[in-house]
Amino acid sequence: METKKVYIHEVACRDGFQNESVFIPTDDKIAIIDRLSECGYAKIEVTSFTSPKAIPALRDAEEVMHRIKRNPDVVYTVLVPNLRGAERALSCGVDEINLVMSVSQTHNQSNLRMTREGSFDQLAGIIAEVKSTPVAINISLSCSFGCPMEGDVAQDEVLAWTDRFASLGVRGVTLCDTTGMAYPTQVRDLFAAVAARFPELELTAHFHNTRGMALANANAAIEAGVNRFDASLGGLGGCPYAPGASGNVCTEEMVHMFELMGLETGVDLQAALQASALLPGLIGHDVPSQILKAGPRLTLHPVPELS
Ligand code: COA
Ligand code: ZN
Repeated sequence: METKKVYIHEVACRDGFQNESVFIPTDDKIAIIDRLSECGYAKIEVTSFTSPKAIPALRDAEEVMHRIKRNPDVVYTVLVPNLRGAERALSCGVDEINLVMSVSQTHNQSNLRMTREGSFDQLAGIIAEVKSTPVAINISLSCSFGCPMEGDVAQDEVLAWTDRFASLGVRGVTLCDTTGMAYPTQVRDLFAAVAARFPELELTAHFHNTRGMALANANAAIEAGVNRFDASLGGLGGCPYAPGASGNVCTEEMVHMFELMGLETGVDLQAALQASALLPGLIGHDVPSQILKAGPRLTLHPVPELS
C-alpha cells in the first residue's frame, strides 16, 4: 500500500510568537525560521502583516520576510487581515497570502474590528488583485468549530463562507479551531461535508489544544481525508483577541503520532525537536510539548536500580 503523505505547515512563528508578551528579536526570529526551513515542512507561516498596534510582537514582518533564507521546497506564507496587509506582503515576495476572517461575527469584530461583510469585501478585493500573479491565496476561517463568545457555529455557516471564497477562486481553505472547541466527531463531519461539496479546494486543519483534544481532532481529520495540517513547534500559539485561547497542536507531537501511524510527514522529528528545545530561551518560559519532555516512544531508559 502506498504511504499516505501529509503536509505539515509550521505556524509557531506567527500563531506562536503573536501571543508572546516578549518581543523576540528580529535576528532570533530569522535564525529559527532558517532552521525550520531545513526540517522538511511543506509550508512555513513566517509572520503576519497586521497592525503593529494590534500585534506588536510581529511588527518586524517585512524585515523577517526579506532576510530569511528561502528553501525552494518550502511554501512561505503570511497571515493577512486587510488590504494594507496584502500590499505589505506582496512587497516582500511571499509565495502565498493566508487571508483571515472569522465565521463568528463577534470574534471577527473583536479580532479584526470589522463586520464579517466588511472583511469579506476587503478580502474579495485582495483576491481580485492577486489572482493575476503567481502568489497563491488561502483563506483561514477562524472559529469554524465554535466561538468563545457566541457558542456553537452551525456547519451551514462554515459551508456558506467556504462557498463564497471558493467562488472567488481561492486555492485553499483552512478551518480553524481558534480556541480548542472542536471535538473529533464534529471535526470528521465538518471536513467530510466541506470536502464533498468542494473537492477542488486544498483543505487544511488548524487545531488548538486548549481542551486537550487537538491530536484526537487531527486523527479525525485524517479519517475525513484531510492531508494538510497547521501545527506549532513546542505547542506555542493563541489569538490575543479570543478569550481563553492557548497553544496550537504541537508540531512534534503531531509528527510523532502521524509517523507511528505510517503517514509520511516529510518532517525530520529530531531536527524539529532540536529547534523546539531552543524556544524556551527565546520566549522565557517552558513550552507545552510532551515529546520534548518525554522523548519519542522508543526512547529507552535504564532499568532503575533496586534499593
Ligand atoms: N499593517 C500595518 N498597519 C496597518 C494595517 C496593516 N495590515 N492595517 C491597518 N494598519 C494601521 C493603519 O495604517 C492605521 O495606522 P495609524 O493609526 O498610524 O493611522 C491603524 O493601523 C488603524 O487602521 P484601521 O484600518 O483603522 O485598522 P483597525 O485599527 O480598525 O484594525 C486590523 C484593523 C485588521 C488592522 C487590526 O485589527 C489587526 O491587525 N488585527 C489582527 C489581529 C490578529 O492578527 N489576530 C491574531 C490572528 S487571527
Ligand atoms: Zn490559531
